[in-house]
Amino acid sequence: MRPLAFDVEHLRIAPACVLAPMEGITDRPFRTLVRGLGGCGLTVTEFVSSEALSRNVAKAWNMAALGADEHPVSIQIYGRDPIRMAEAARMSADLGADIIDLNLGCPSKTVTGGCAGSALLREPSLAQQLFRSVRQAITIPMTVKMRLGWDWDCINSPEVAHIAEQEGAAMIAVHGRTRNDMYRGQANWRVVGAVKKAVKVPVLVNGDILTVDDAVRALDESGADGVMVGRGTLRDPWILRAIADHFAGLPAFEPGLDERRDVLLRYFDLIRTDLSDRAVIGKLKKVTGYFTRGLPFGARLRELIFPAQDITAIYEAVRIYFELLATHDLRDGFRRVFADTEQKYSPNDSRSFDREGEQL
Ligand SMILES: Cc1cc2nc3c(=O)[nH]c(=O)nc-3n(C[C@H](O)[C@H](O)[C@H](O)COP(=O)(O)O)c2cc1C
Repeated sequence: MRPLAFDVEHLRIAPACVLAPMEGITDRPFRTLVRGLGGCGLTVTEFVSSEALSRNVAKAWNMAALGADEHPVSIQIYGRDPIRMAEAARMSADLGADIIDLNLGCPSKTVTGGCAGSALLREPSLAQQLFRSVRQAITIPMTVKMRLGWDWDCINSPEVAHIAEQEGAAMIAVHGRTRNDMYRGQANWRVVGAVKKAVKVPVLVNGDILTVDDAVRALDESGADGVMVGRGTLRDPWILRAIADHFAGLPAFEPGLDERRDVLLRYFDLIRTDLSDRAVIGKLKKVTGYFTRGLPFGARLRELIFPAQDITAIYEAVRIYFELLATHDLRDGFRRVFADTEQKYSPNDSRSFDREGEQL
């Protein structure tokens, strides 16, 4: 066993456990939360439209805004116009990003309809122009996140990754599904291994990593240099720390119920510092919906929170929920439950994320 770490040009990523970009989720408060729990060597913003950023749309600026101590951090941009992409990359570097990441993975209709995201896998020559244009615009590292291919008849991520590397990409992250898979089925870590073989730069394996065992198998099957975890951090915000600790040979850390409750409430506090009171209630309900997917008695917490009319009632609902868990002998935390009942509590509810993907 060896600690997971690598260099992206001059930048040390240690541990090589990366929080995946998730639109609507990995905003500043969530990134701050996960980084604060340890084990996270790199955060990535939600994808930011290069059109919107370069045209000074306020929402895009807000999505690209970074926390004060948030390093190393990557700003992810998407688009299909090389000039706009270059401009957005330059602006993102000025905002303090350590890395600019290009999105070639998003399956959503709004993004692929405009022929960005994973649709670029079908246009390797345009993707090449985008890589070149962004690379020339910035002095910090450029990285790329992609899916395996458009569909199982066209698994061209190794070719596209090779092109990206030739154009100066310093790291490639691969979600082990095709665009047409959306979020269905199971991520294929072995096929991610074909990308690892095609390039010399570090590769991150991504998709369906929910436990330390998953991370071990994903790295083993793909030969990748590090892991990128998205939805697993919603169910268990400590998952990156657990993976990093495992590879560093440290004993497993298992947060108890009180700590889980306090962290959820701290996350709510972070959201409150970022939004107006009116917007906060909707956001707290939304994130609770994500957070409770796969948690023991998660439906009960949703039932408690969704009718709440004010912030105090939401905080109170969280306290009631954790008292309920304590009466069900879950004081030692959830990981034992996750391990025993993987199927039952799996957050890999592809139907709801398929819908999410459509909306993105
Ligand atoms: C709600 C949601 C939003 C996402 N938004 C982005 C995004 O903005 N950029 C991106 O590259 N991938 C995005 N993804 C894909 C994730 O980064 C990741 O590749 C995918 O969820 C598989 O990893 P996981 O099983 O660890 O979640 C999103 C996924 C979800 C579920």
